Amino acid sequence: MQSNSAAERVVLLPGDGIGPEVSAEARLALELLVPELELEERLLGAAAIRATGEPLPAATLDACLASAAVLKGPVGDPEFDAADVRPEQGMLALRGALDTYANLRPVSADGVDVLIVRELVGGLYFGASGVREDGTVYDTCEYHPRQVERVVRRAFRFAKTRRGLLTSVDKANVLETSRMWRRVVDELALEHPEVKVEHVLVDNAAMQVATNLGQFDVIVTENMFGDILSDLAAAVTGGIGLAPSASLSDGGPGIFEPVHGSAPDIAGRGLANPTAMLRSTALLLRHGLARPEEADALTHAIDVALASTPTADLGGTATTADFGKKIREQLVAGGTPTVVR
Ligand code: NAD
Ligand code: IPM
Ligand code: MN
Repeated sequence: MQSNSAAERVVLLPGDGIGPEVSAEARLALELLVPELELEERLLGAAAIRATGEPLPAATLDACLASAAVLKGPVGDPEFDAADVRPEQGMLALRGALDTYANLRPVSADGVDVLIVRELVGGLYFGASGVREDGTVYDTCEYHPRQVERVVRRAFRFAKTRRGLLTSVDKANVLETSRMWRRVVDELALEHPEVKVEHVLVDNAAMQVATNLGQFDVIVTENMFGDILSDLAAAVTGGIGLAPSASLSDGGPGIFEPVHGSAPDIAGRGLANPTAMLRSTALLLRHGLARPEEADALTHAIDVALASTPTADLGGTATTADFGKKIREQLVAGGTPTVVR
């Protein structure tokens, strides 16, 4: 059997909870859009722990490292919340191994078009943690200026191609890492006079995102602040079922995944909105496979399905599978692919 080059190979990690449900729809859409694509399914998260004892098995990591891009469903299962080996450790290890430091989380709605750029492989998530002899438990937040510089540079590049406003979010009134973050942003600002730069403290930023998200263009922030602000931004632009993300490195495979989690409360009932997963697939087509036409076709099909076939989270009655079917019908009607399954 002839094997495709890495440029045509995508690893699909369906994940846990609603992950397999939304991944199935993404897979069918992707197969329709790029029939020649080699799609390899691998285990990550709780599914991987059950099968192998590890949240990121070597076979999964090797396949991801050798791919053009990774399409990932959410991981996480309440069964493992208090365990020593947890599903989420697998995804953090994958982010670290692929060095996907720039996590793009776009949100849009009427009068809102905002790109959140979240640092993804540093800060509290990757710092030393543990338990001291006296029982004190600690997590530490560390950043090297180089880690800040590379993600902020990316954010400046995006701001330049958009509306030219960059908002850096930190907690510089309290944290040493934030004061360094601010200095790095100000230094890079000198190289980009065409971009207007502002600094906003994270508590105020949360209020502004909740009440007036439309004022922002590009927001750049550290790992934990970006995690929290991106759920909030999703909530005020139609809900968490809609929000995709792209996690990019310097030249290696990116990870494309929804912002939402495995939603154990609705898993297995056909209630999940696959939009975030499908929009992540569109980001994969654009940024991971350099296929902007297919990305545009999928984005348009999603808009049509949202208007005509809304799922329960949007007040509609469509199931996950109904929504996916509408996507494929629209792709065929739009003339991109030739067959519908
Ligand atoms: P969650 O995002 O899974 O769910 C929050 C709420 O949003 C729930 O009511 C859920 O039903 C709803 N929801 C989420 N996605 C939806 C969709 N596509 N359609 C309709 N409704 C949707 O957050 P949580 O409950 O805090 O986390 C559950 C698990 O997911 C945890 O184990 C967590 O660690 C994990 N998680 C994983 C990722 C990831 O893999 N990227 C992201 C976030 C959370
Ligand atoms: C996300 C998730 C993850 C994060 C968790 C599951 C580790 O919430 O991708 O937003 O905090 O990065
Ligand atoms: Mn999150």
